[in-house]
Amino acid sequence: MKRNIFQKQDDSEVNNSVESSSSIDEKIVKSSNEGSDIINLVNINQVYTDHVPHNVVFKDFNLDIKDIKDQGQFVTLMGKSGCGKSTLLRYISGLQNPTSGDVFIYGKKRSDKDRIPMVFQQYTSFEWKTVLQNVALPLILKGVSKDEANERAMDMIKIVGLSGHENKWAKYPTLSGGQLQRVAIARNLVVNPQILLMDEPFGALDTITRKQIQVFLRSIFEHAKLDPTVIFVTHSESEAVFLSTDIYILDSGPANVKHHFKIDLPQERNETVRYSKEFTDYVNKLGALMEDLKK
Ligand SMILES: Nc1ncnc2c1ncn2[C@@H]1O[C@H](COP(=O)(O)OP(=O)(O)O)[C@@H](O)[C@H]1O
Ligand SMILES: [Mg+2]
Repeated sequence: MKRNIFQKQDDSEVNNSVESSSSIDEKIVKSSNEGSDIINLVNINQVYTDHVPHNVVFKDFNLDIKDIKDQGQFVTLMGKSGCGKSTLLRYISGLQNPTSGDVFIYGKKRSDKDRIPMVFQQYTSFEWKTVLQNVALPLILKGVSKDEANERAMDMIKIVGLSGHENKWAKYPTLSGGQLQRVAIARNLVVNPQILLMDEPFGALDTITRKQIQVFLRSIFEHAKLDPTVIFVTHSESEAVFLSTDIYILDSGPANVKHHFKIDLPQERNETVRYSKEFTDYVNKLGALMEDLKK
């Protein structure tokens, strides 16, 4: 809003291949159905003064994320531990305010009453409630009748592939780690949020489950008429490439967007995508950019 950190690029450049992306960080990625801004972080400053020297996490930090009309998108934030990724999600969600600066959602300054849902790495379901009760809860809290809430929750349980598990307690080991993350995702998606925040949500899952849940997460956008902007944090380069529409790489001390590029893989992503040359090229390129941060 205040400042767009990326230069425009014309449509011929949208398909920025890995090979031609040496200056991808200096381009804004423009898609034909790009909508208005959905999130603006404007002149954000964050200083922790409990130690000397003070920890300046953000200094005049700006980030503008565009909506893609009627289409879900994955915007992934990557960067070294401690660079401020979780903090950015907390600003957007309303769990934390910056020392100074503003957060706008759809062009409106976010109020302390707005709460944007967040999925964490730790399982965050209510263990003393069933899967159905967990997923229906956000609707009940919004005043939806119990019957309608249960009906909509059952639809969502089906979408996340948990049909038949609705009456089980939402706890480990009654449900596996992957299933519990599906419950958390269902609970957050049931209100059809325009923004969903996910902070390293699959970090605790084994590799195979993790890959399966990545495929499932992409597929909900194809089949379920859900179109949230997901702001996603991960340390896994292959996970980032598989899921993302856009990737932002942040450097630290204070944080800045060092690179921004689009992942130009098919909208419909299944296991076969992982074996394509494009996929491998993106992962290698991303790995090199991340490695570069460490120097
Ligand atoms: N309450 C706090 N007091 C002091 N420093 C904090 C506090 N919360 C976060 N930080 C610091 O803010 C920085 C960013 O943290 P965080 O957003 O969790 O990083 P990331 O998610 O990228 O690993 C870190 O350097 C961390 O030490
Ligand atoms: Mg974090």
